[in-house]
Amino acid sequence: MKSLKGKAARSVAVRLATFVSGGVDAAKAARALADGVVLGGYEFLRYKSAPEGGVERATLHLGDALGRQAAAVRKAVANQTALLECVVWARNIANLPADTATPERLAEEARALGKELGLKVTVFDEAKLAEMGCGGLLAVGGGSAHPPRMIILEYPGRGRKARTVAVVGKGITFDSGGISIKPAPRMAEMKFDKSGAVATLGIVRAAATLKVAPRVIGVLCCAENLPSGSAYRPGDVVRTYNGKTIEVLNTDAEGRVVLSDGLGYVVKQYSPDEVIDLATLTGAEVIALGDDTGGLVSTDNRLAQGLLAASAETGEPLWRMPLTDFHRELVKSEVGDVRNSIEIPVAGMLTAAAFLETFVGATPWAHLDIAGPAYTNPLTRRYQPPYQNYGATAFGVRLVTRYLEGIGGRS
Ligand code: BES
Ligand code: ZN
Ligand code: ZN
Repeated sequence: MKSLKGKAARSVAVRLATFVSGGVDAAKAARALADGVVLGGYEFLRYKSAPEGGVERATLHLGDALGRQAAAVRKAVANQTALLECVVWARNIANLPADTATPERLAEEARALGKELGLKVTVFDEAKLAEMGCGGLLAVGGGSAHPPRMIILEYPGRGRKARTVAVVGKGITFDSGGISIKPAPRMAEMKFDKSGAVATLGIVRAAATLKVAPRVIGVLCCAENLPSGSAYRPGDVVRTYNGKTIEVLNTDAEGRVVLSDGLGYVVKQYSPDEVIDLATLTGAEVIALGDDTGGLVSTDNRLAQGLLAASAETGEPLWRMPLTDFHRELVKSEVGDVRNSIEIPVAGMLTAAAFLETFVGATPWAHLDIAGPAYTNPLTRRYQPPYQNYGATAFGVRLVTRYLEGIGGRS
């Protein structure tokens, strides 16, 4: 797909049998080919005045030998194409720069999705957040002219006794670091700091489109982190939705601060059977696992194994990391309940996870730190999958949707 960019070809034909061998059966090969065609061909063209043409149609030839498997292949392609439409939709939102993709704009996208698919969508604005006691979102969003939002989407699942899975996403529309401001180089990439929330949108869309069995509650914690006269500051103590307090030591550790409200809210209001959060949470994740792999921290082995199995199937790499009492001890605060930074360069991905765990409590929980794989940039990063061009990847949409497809609806 990439080599055909800018060439005259508008359609391409692929002989499926070429890609079938050993452990790769026809349906699996067809899914992978769909990934390659759609994702390899994807480019974000909204701001290009004269975009180059590319392939518009790919045809898969099954051949006689695959006759018996034709039905399975057709089903796999239909399912994967529907899922990839959700991935492309999510990428188109995640690639929008922060002047356009404000917290309210993400709310508009959620409302439009709700209307299209008949899902219940609730948006809490800054006045409602104040009434609810969501001090984390209000603190982080306080420095921006674009006020914070918490956005809830509900897919009811199949059957009355559907298992409930909460998916919570970090939606920082731009992360300057705030008063603890980041250095200028690479700061532009922080338009992608909303990738967890946008992946959550994509997952809800996919769950509803593919009609997965479990009920899915999507929660987007959206704010813009900027320095200003009304910005939150190091030393502030913030009271969050569930009453726990956060001592702010570094305003650049803002993701965990907004997630505290979203996690506390969904656990209290929906009593989910399990919680999965997605967040471009720490630079430490990128140092530990690189540009291609997401960090998984989980308090529940069944949930972790399910996500790792889904990851192996979709090819979105994930690696599990430990969470111990050492990390839990490090996030305790002298002043409040927890502190948002430990001020020493030790296990940054895991102390962030220990912080989040405080707001989840005993509910089975998995945290996906996607700071590495959420976006690619050939100028600043070393790894880029061959089927990925510059920009947002919507990492997590295929993986979490596959996980949701695999679990039953009964709790
Ligand atoms: N959004 C960043 C993490 C990030 C870094 C995402 C690189 C994608 C690429 C996050 O809000 C952040 O700044 N984290 C700090 C936390 C620290 C101050 C405790 C970090 O990781 O340095
Ligand atoms: Zn930050
Ligand atoms: Zn951030």
